[in-house]
Amino acid sequence: MFIKKLRLENFRNYADETFLFSEGLNVLAGRNAQGKTNCAEAVFYLCTGASLRIRHDRQLIRRGESSARVTAEAESLFGRVTLGAEIFENRRELTVNGNRVNRAVDFLGNLRSVFFSPGELRLIQDGPDERRRFLNLSISQTSRAYCTALQRYQRILDQRNNLLKERDLSLIRETLPLWDEQLAKYAARIVTARREYLKRLSPLAKEAHLFLTDGEEELSLSFEREYPDGEEEAERVLLREYHGSYERDIRLGFTTVGPHRDDVRVLIGGQDARAYASQGQQRTAALSMKLAEVEIFRALTGEPPVLILDDVMSELDLPRRKKLVARVEGLQCILTCTHAERALYGAECNKIRIQEGRILK
Ligand SMILES: Nc1ncnc2c1ncn2[C@@H]1O[C@H](COP(=O)(O)OP(=O)(O)O)[C@@H](O)[C@H]1O
Ligand SMILES: [Mg+2]
Repeated sequence: MFIKKLRLENFRNYADETFLFSEGLNVLAGRNAQGKTNCAEAVFYLCTGASLRIRHDRQLIRRGESSARVTAEAESLFGRVTLGAEIFENRRELTVNGNRVNRAVDFLGNLRSVFFSPGELRLIQDGPDERRRFLNLSISQTSRAYCTALQRYQRILDQRNNLLKERDLSLIRETLPLWDEQLAKYAARIVTARREYLKRLSPLAKEAHLFLTDGEEELSLSFEREYPDGEEEAERVLLREYHGSYERDIRLGFTTVGPHRDDVRVLIGGQDARAYASQGQQRTAALSMKLAEVEIFRALTGEPPVLILDDVMSELDLPRRKKLVARVEGLQCILTCTHAERALYGAECNKIRIQEGRILK
């Protein structure tokens, strides 16, 4: 899978530029604040329908303009696909091959990408939210069923949480069981998919980490808590947990159990990476998780995703940099950096220089 052409109109600091990408390594080079990450963000947006950095799409619109447009031509095993996103102040229009799609889930999965930047360190350093976000975005890119289950779960959870803030206790006690049946059904789908995903991801991440560290460090990923095998069994367990937490949920005013509280345990050499690993080790672990994600996409869809590496070269030491360049061979990679020559050591690439939101000819 690869993206051939990307046009940015009034997107971030771009007025109207068209990028032509090669199937291999593409390097976006330029000084700071010129628009390299903005371009990477546009690719990611077309893959996931979500921005990397922000909550409100309107920030993507070039200052002083009223709308932005991102269009791309990509090629996959299934042939050519064109993707478009027109972004307005309070809404957006997504298209696939010129046809409007109304739901984000129909947009997902036409083009897949894995994104890595120095900020991805959050994956290890921050709380469970970040790791759940990683699982959700990653699994959603290959499973519409997961994406749908997640949306429905979130909707019911919001309603349940609203109910828990009611004053009328008898109303709460009467209504909770009704929500919980639904909640447990989607929760079971989510945890089962996450479990399977982690089972695949873990050995791949371990392998990538061994590769990057020359066999020196062992990375292990696992679910923080156990769920039983099989969706039905998980549903029963979850339903029991929702029921069992009424008193606490009512007292605290929100739902205290369920997949929205799950976490992934990350160990390096058997030790909790968040508490004990150095920043360099954490960075390598996060990168290994992303490289494992590449392999999962490749295995599940039959072709590799687009790998976006934003500003990562300057953060890696020379041996790891060389290893990373070797590792990305055979996939389309969009890499941003300030000094292409120093980052790549002569690797063959399609180099695009960017200055003030323009491609230098
Ligand atoms: N909506 C916007 N309209 C105009 N300029 C923007 C917008 N959003 C970001 N920028 C500008 O884009 C630049 C940063 O681009 P970025 O891609 O992050 O830089 P880098 O090349 O360092 O990765 C900044 O100068 C910022 O002001
Ligand atoms: Mg940047």
